[in-house]
Amino acid sequence: MKKFIITIDGPAASGKEKIAKYISRRWKLSHLDSGILYRRLAQIFLINKIDTKDINQIKKNLVKINKISFRNSKKIRKQNISKLASKIAIHNCVRNFVNKLQYNFVKNNNKKQGFVIDGRDIGSVVFKKANLKLYIEVNPEIRAKRRYKQLIDSGEKSIYRKILKDIKLRDKQDKLRKHSPLVIPKGAHLINNNGTFENTTKQITKLLEKI
Ligand code: CDP
Repeated sequence: MKKFIITIDGPAASGKEKIAKYISRRWKLSHLDSGILYRRLAQIFLINKIDTKDINQIKKNLVKINKISFRNSKKIRKQNISKLASKIAIHNCVRNFVNKLQYNFVKNNNKKQGFVIDGRDIGSVVFKKANLKLYIEVNPEIRAKRRYKQLIDSGEKSIYRKILKDIKLRDKQDKLRKHSPLVIPKGAHLINNNGTFENTTKQITKLLEKI
């Protein structure tokens, strides 16, 4: 049976995770957050003191990894890992490694036939033939405010101006990189997530009811 896939792309802190979780719960789809995989790799590179600019060193270390956790954790949501994840995501070898994990996740998951996958290149590169593609739009200032609150609520020290600066820097890195830059995927529906979550879910429900 052909698998049913919804992709969600958008910039840092645009609410992809919350939206993906909502869709996963409401329409009983399996959720995969590809950002977690980049964050897990960043954490491994940090622990092993790998120079993130040295492609040969990265490649040598990637072949040594035989398992990566798909689970979220407080540690991998910290600002240092966010920044490092964006840095390593520019390399093609890293992207190929993560893409393979995603293909296997869908292929080997026999319990579920439907998936909602979020990231930066899911509708444009990883699952180009998805059944429904969403692209989440939110102003940088609103994203910074939400991320700031998230970090403070989780007990991390945080400064709004610094968060806004980091978000703008990550946007630049994600949009300008050579391999799989952040773009609005062909055929994607734009979701405005500037307002309330209820407003966002209304836009999504309208689209999903049409399928
Ligand atoms: O939660 P947030 O939007 O801040 O980030 P994330 O989705 O957890 O992703 C962390 C970083 O991984 C991003 O800044 C991207 O640079 C990179 N990433 C990517 O390049 N491609 C993906 N499909 C997912 C994440």
